Amino acid sequence: MNELTIGDTTVPAIGLGTWHMGDHAATRSQEIKAIQAGIDAGARVIDTAEMYGNGRSENLIGEAIQTINRDQLFIIDKVLPSNASASRLEHSLDQSLKLVGTDHFDLYLYHWRGAVPLSETVETLQKMQQKGKIKHWGVSNFDLPDMQELLALPGGDQVAANEDLYNIGSRGVEYSLLPWQRDHHIPFIAYTPVGAGDERGRLTTNQVVNEIAAAHHATPWQIILAWAIRDGNTLAIPQSGDPKHAVDNVKAANITLSADELAQIDTEFPKPTSKQPLDIR
Ligand SMILES: NC(=O)c1ccc[n+]([C@@H]2O[C@H](COP(=O)([O-])OP(=O)(O)OC[C@H]3O[C@@H](n4cnc5c(N)ncnc54)[C@H](OP(=O)(O)O)[C@@H]3O)[C@@H](O)[C@H]2O)c1
Repeated sequence: MNELTIGDTTVPAIGLGTWHMGDHAATRSQEIKAIQAGIDAGARVIDTAEMYGNGRSENLIGEAIQTINRDQLFIIDKVLPSNASASRLEHSLDQSLKLVGTDHFDLYLYHWRGAVPLSETVETLQKMQQKGKIKHWGVSNFDLPDMQELLALPGGDQVAANEDLYNIGSRGVEYSLLPWQRDHHIPFIAYTPVGAGDERGRLTTNQVVNEIAAAHHATPWQIILAWAIRDGNTLAIPQSGDPKHAVDNVKAANITLSADELAQIDTEFPKPTSKQPLDIR
């Protein structure tokens, strides 16, 4: 299985996203099964945030992992920009820990940049790390200038990951951010890695993607995920409320695409040739 190391932990390169999960009573038990099936299939990472359904995703995860050994999991949570201050962050963190039913997060991310000075957020995250409430801290929706500003701050080079939108149809980060993160040994977390259920309908229907899928006895979704994690420094966190999809997604970490297959994909979905604005969702 393709893996990467975040902080001091090596995890399979495909984890479980959970945005919009726990929002509806009718789909709750199926969503819990999807998380559990994903973990049974080998996933270790679960990605959530206080923002997701105002705590409903965290609460759902808490229920889904009740009987699972905590040491087997690598849980990522995120603090909202409005709560990323010295006076508010710890309260947010405590609430999130309570909802998930754990005494620590493996990675706690600053969800996106807001009005709080970056130095204040970093200092507060470091304090939470010293208290043992988080193992590592990181950022999300940061572009290269944000990362450079972060690394110039005291302790900023301890950032354990940056989580941004990345998929076969949105490759802007490849122009300068991804190579820079690889050079600085900062893992990249790819969110919306299957294009939000391929909402524009042009990824999973692509003929080349389907031909490569057939050659690997895989689905187009799995090929898109295998592509996202190909550099060994990237974790992809697809979201699924369907147990079969969740298992397929996790198993895509076993697929390694050949140089020829990657070149064919480049022809269909070209690399950026200039700096693009950071894509967000
Ligand atoms: N840091 C941030 O700012 C940020 C922003 C956005 C997202 N995220 C994180 O990234 C995660 C993933 O991103 P996302 O939820 O935006 O989009 P995504 O994972 O690209 O797409 C999710 C959609 O794809 C479908 N899907 C997934 N696997 C499938 C498969 N194998 N076959 C068919 N359909 C499949 C799901 O439907 P089914 O349920 O039917 O499988 C769901 O509708 C989020 O859940 C969240 O944890 C972070």
